Amino acid sequence: MLNGLKNLEYRGYDSAGIAVSENGAIKLYKRQGKLANLENEASLQKVTSNTGIGHTRWATHGIPNETNAHPHISGNVTLVHNGIIENYNELKAFLLDKGVTFNSQTDTEVACAYINYIYEEMKQHFNEENLKLKAILKACSDFRGSYAFGIMFKDEPNTIYATRKDSPLIVGLSDDGNFIASDISAILEYTKRYMLLDYMEIAKISTDTVTVYNEKLETIDKKINEATWSATECKKNGYDHFMLKEINEQPIAIKDVYKRYFENQDENYDKVDFSKYTNINIVACGSAMHASLVGKYLFENYANIPTTVDIASEYRYKKQLLTPTTLVVIVSQSGETADSLAALRISKEKGATTLAIINAVGSTIAREADITIYTHAGPEIAVATTKGYTTQVATFGCLAMNAMKQKNIQTEFNKEKIEFDKIDKILTSVIANIEEYRKIAKYLSDKNDIFFIGRGNDYNMCMEGSLKLKEISYIHSEAYPAGELKHGTISLVEEGTPVIAIATEKELYEKTVSNIKETKARGAFTILISTEEFKDTYTEDFADIALFLPTTTTFNEGIVVVTALQLIAYETAKLRGCDIDKPKNLAKSVTVE
Ligand code: AGP
Repeated sequence: MLNGLKNLEYRGYDSAGIAVSENGAIKLYKRQGKLANLENEASLQKVTSNTGIGHTRWATHGIPNETNAHPHISGNVTLVHNGIIENYNELKAFLLDKGVTFNSQTDTEVACAYINYIYEEMKQHFNEENLKLKAILKACSDFRGSYAFGIMFKDEPNTIYATRKDSPLIVGLSDDGNFIASDISAILEYTKRYMLLDYMEIAKISTDTVTVYNEKLETIDKKINEATWSATECKKNGYDHFMLKEINEQPIAIKDVYKRYFENQDENYDKVDFSKYTNINIVACGSAMHASLVGKYLFENYANIPTTVDIASEYRYKKQLLTPTTLVVIVSQSGETADSLAALRISKEKGATTLAIINAVGSTIAREADITIYTHAGPEIAVATTKGYTTQVATFGCLAMNAMKQKNIQTEFNKEKIEFDKIDKILTSVIANIEEYRKIAKYLSDKNDIFFIGRGNDYNMCMEGSLKLKEISYIHSEAYPAGELKHGTISLVEEGTPVIAIATEKELYEKTVSNIKETKARGAFTILISTEEFKDTYTEDFADIALFLPTTTTFNEGIVVVTALQLIAYETAKLRGCDIDKPKNLAKSVTVE
C-alpha cells in the first residue's frame, strides 16, 4: 500500500496515512508532509495485514496536518476520499445535532461520520443483509460534490467497499489480491487488469473476491480492462527527475502522434467531420489551455474555422452560446480535471458534439466525450506537464491537417512538410542543447520577476514557458503579447529584469525585435529565442543572449520552442533546489473545483 501511495504521490503530497486491519481491529497511521514521513514510522515496520486503505493528500478543506490527513474514522467506519463534499457544512450541523463529535476540519471526516450514522441507524431498524451497501448508497445520495471513497467497517475488517462520483477510481484484480486506486499507475507492478466503476456503483472487495453492485443492489459484470502502460514507464529509469525523463520522451511521443495520424492508425480522426461544424470551442485548464491556444491558431490560420478557447473554470459558469454546429473540444492530460469534466457535461447538455484530446486511457472525460483522440504520451508523473502538452499540440496539428483535407483547402502541410521523418531528430537536438539552457537558467535563477513576450503563436509559447518556470522554480513570471507590454506593464521593467522574447514568425519578427529594444532601452536583460532562419539577420545590439533553435514548420515550432522553455525552467528550478517533480502546493490532477 505504501508503494502504491508512492506511485500516486504526484497527485498530492501534503500529508499521508493508512488504515490496516490487524488482529481483527483497524489500526490508523498518519503523518503530515510527504509520504516518506509515514514510511519512516517505526511502528509500521511491524504491521502484518492483508487489508487496508491509504491516501496521500492534496488539501482542500483544512490545513495539511496529521489530524486532517486521511484515512478518517467515525464509529464503525474508516474512509479515504478523493474529491469535495460541497454540502459538508449542513451534514456536519445535522450530525453535531445528533451528538457526533469531530476532530478535523475536513469534509471527508463529515462524509465518514455520515456513512457511519446512516449505517448505525439502519442496523437499529433492519436486520436485512447488505446493510453496509444500503448505508453507503443512501449516504452518497445525500452528498453533493465529488467523491471516490475507499471504506472499511470495523465489524468486517477484511473487506473494502469502494464507490465514486466524478472523481476517478479503478478496481485492480490479481491472483494475489485485489485493489482500488485513483489511477492504474498505483498498482501496475501488481496487476494490469482493472475495472472502471460508474456512478452509484459499489465494489465490495476482499482478497479473493470482487463483487460490483448497481444502485438496485443487483450484482453486475464489469468489463475487465488491460492497462497499456507498464510499471517501468512509471519509474524514473535513471533520470534525476520524472520531468527530465518525460521531456526526453517527447521526440518519440510526438513522432508517434504524427505516425498514428499519417498512417491512419486512429479511426477517431475520421469521426470528426469538420464540414458539419461552423465553429469550434476549445475548453481546458492550465497547460492544456495553452495547447488549446495553439490549436486555435492552427484551426483559424489553416482550416479557416472560427475557434475560441475558454478556461474550463470560467466556461462552466458563463452563458453558453452553443449550437448543434459547434464542435466543443475538451483537452486534458489526466482526463479527470473537474472543471474540464464539468465543461464537457454542460456542452453535451446544450447539444454540442464533444471531442476530447486525452492522455489517460479510460479516464472519465475520455469515456463521456462523443469522440476521444488519445495522445498516447504514456504515463506522465511529473506534476509539471511536458510531453502531455506537446502531444496535445501535435494532435491539434493532425486535426487541423484533417480539417484542411476534408474542406479541400490546399495545403503544403502533409507528411513531408510536417517533417515527419525529422521531428524526433529535431527535438533530440533541441534537448541536447542543454548548456545553452543552463546559461540562461544561471541568469534567471536569482531573479524575482521575469517577462516572456511574443506575438501570434509565439505568444502562445510564452504562456506555456511562463507557467513551466513559475510552477517548478517558484519565480514569478508573466507572459505578455509583445505589442501590449508598452500599454502599462513595461513600467515594471527595471535594470536587469529578464525579458525572454520568442520570435519565430517571419512576418512578426521585426515587430517583436522592436519590442525587445523598447525593454532593453529601459534596462532589461533580453534573451531572444528564435530559429536559425533569423540568425543571419541578428545583430547583437538588442539581445544579451540569443538562442537559435532548428527551423521547422509552424505546426512544429510550438513544440520545438516549448521543449527549450521546459529545459530552461528545469535547469532554473534545479539551481534553486526546488522539488521539481512535486512542486509545493500543486497536484498532478486537479479533480476538485
Ligand atoms: C501544467 O504543468 C499543470 N500541471 C496544470 O496546469 C495542468 O496542465 C492542468 O491542471 C490541466 O490538467 P489536465 O491536462 O490533466 O486537465
